Amino acid sequence: MPRAKISVIGAGNVGATCAHWIVAKELADCVLVDIVEGMPQGKALDMMEATPVVDSDCQITGSNGYEATAGSDVVIITSGIPRKPGMSRDDLLATNKKIMSSVCAEVKKTSPDACVIIVANPLDAMCHVAFDTLDFPRERVMGMAGVLDTARYKSFIAMELNVSVEDVHGMVLGGHGDTMVPLPNHTSVGGIPLTELIAKERIDEIITRTAKGGAEIVGLLKTGSAFYAPSAGAVAMAESIIKDKKRVLPCASLLNGEYGHNDLFIGVPCILGKGGVEKVIELKLDDHEKGLLDHSANAVKGLVEALANN
Ligand code: LAC
Repeated sequence: MPRAKISVIGAGNVGATCAHWIVAKELADCVLVDIVEGMPQGKALDMMEATPVVDSDCQITGSNGYEATAGSDVVIITSGIPRKPGMSRDDLLATNKKIMSSVCAEVKKTSPDACVIIVANPLDAMCHVAFDTLDFPRERVMGMAGVLDTARYKSFIAMELNVSVEDVHGMVLGGHGDTMVPLPNHTSVGGIPLTELIAKERIDEIITRTAKGGAEIVGLLKTGSAFYAPSAGAVAMAESIIKDKKRVLPCASLLNGEYGHNDLFIGVPCILGKGGVEKVIELKLDDHEKGLLDHSANAVKGLVEALANN
């Protein structure tokens, strides 16, 4: 059976690290695309030369165009500028909208059957730009943010309790911004409700740190934003699709009435399989949680409306 093919658009920190995880996991052949001459080719060749060391038979190539990406099973779009200290993800709207629509016009032509995973910010708004340009079914256009936000949340809980990250289960829903919604009442550690293990005040601090998790990294790096955890998140989604694992992961998906919202991308629990988002799972939220999700959805709506003027 031929190996699956994943194309990663944008060979900056997030894109190149996506390719790295793909090769390290021996997940698929990978095409890394960037407009900068020589850069995707150089990074791809460097990774190809690592394959004998890590025993991976993936082929990885770099390109400045889209021909090499033709017929991809999954396309991960990381292209766009990252934020600098003091900027919010929303400040990237106008610049990244232009980049996203031009990339998606190429992907539509070259990989019409692909599942497309959006990573560029502001994430939920960029999903709208991608969806409008690609004109693919909603199942095949999704955004990576919930896996990242959830990974941060779980890391902080594991650090707090000094337990394995493997035993922390939970979810962060909503838009990928300050209004994201970690769900402590749906979080458990080895089957034990989180609320029995950590005091409410401390859980609130962890939730705040999670919501500001991206800015914490930007503040430390000073020259860009996070890339190890974001790329790991995108590749986890790609893996579930390629292997038809049907993992339940929080993804930005276009809602068609689920959670009371229509025509809006926000983070919700999804089953990811070979068809992409095969199902959006509707969790029973209490009034408080529903209020937080609606607040987050409204923040995303505001940005989507702003797209029209940018
Ligand atoms: C973050 C950026 C990449 O959350 O959105 O780190």
